[in-house]
Amino acid sequence: MLSNLRIKNDDNVTILTGAGISAESRIRTFRDGNGLWNEHRVEDVATPEGFRKNPELVWKFYKARYKQLSEVEPNPGHYALVELEKKCNDDFCLITQNVDNLHKLAGSKNVIEMHGTLVNCYCSNCRSYYSMSEIDMELPIPLCEHCNGRLRPNIVWFNEIPYELDKIHDVLSKTSILIVVGTSGQVYPAAQFLYYVKRNGGYTIGVNLEFTHDSSVYNEFHKGKSGVILPELINQITQI
Ligand code: APR
Repeated sequence: MLSNLRIKNDDNVTILTGAGISAESRIRTFRDGNGLWNEHRVEDVATPEGFRKNPELVWKFYKARYKQLSEVEPNPGHYALVELEKKCNDDFCLITQNVDNLHKLAGSKNVIEMHGTLVNCYCSNCRSYYSMSEIDMELPIPLCEHCNGRLRPNIVWFNEIPYELDKIHDVLSKTSILIVVGTSGQVYPAAQFLYYVKRNGGYTIGVNLEFTHDSSVYNEFHKGKSGVILPELINQITQI
């Protein structure tokens, strides 16, 4: 038995996911052994300064990550969260740090992509949005058809403000159960969500391949692959 928790009808369930939930879909994480940050300097490819300095390098990095999306698919961990959402109805919110679109592809509905998404981009000048599938990927730096400005990936970079923080704060303030999956807890504000919910008296569950610096803070921590743990955990905590 993984968990003795049973979700009640009046529970508000919130999920926070990180790169680890997509690792079993063969998408590289950032800080593991073969993580992306072992090959690329964050400053060069994940900051506004890096984009200003070398937009071509930044586009090359994100185009490669976008193209990989056509070769991957959601894994059992993503689908387990879809099932959980169906059982929780409207009292459910999935906040993800991931930009790989796999939660939506799996069928999750109430998703907040707080760090943006690889599937679209926008003009740095006039903020017009474009689907990545409609832009000329051959151009070293895609341009806006309205103002000829430089397009940029719709990714929240370091030193930028994540999306929908007001909504996230509202969700967390009502959260009675928080499940945090596959994140190293190194990046703020997402790394604070666990503490915020715990301070508010919420029940917190961590799922990670490894013990992390905050494993002991959770009410429950399950070490292992999220694609293996989540289906069993969610089956148990949703039992009547
Ligand atoms: N199942 C569960 N957890 C896993 C698995 C797996 N199969 N594989 C790896 N993990 C865990 C690792 O142990 C690690 O704790 O996933 C975590 C991945 O951590 P990071 O690579 O730091 O990714 P993440 O926490 O999502 O990074 C947060 O940092 O670079 C920024 O914007 C980027 O959204 C990203 C943010």
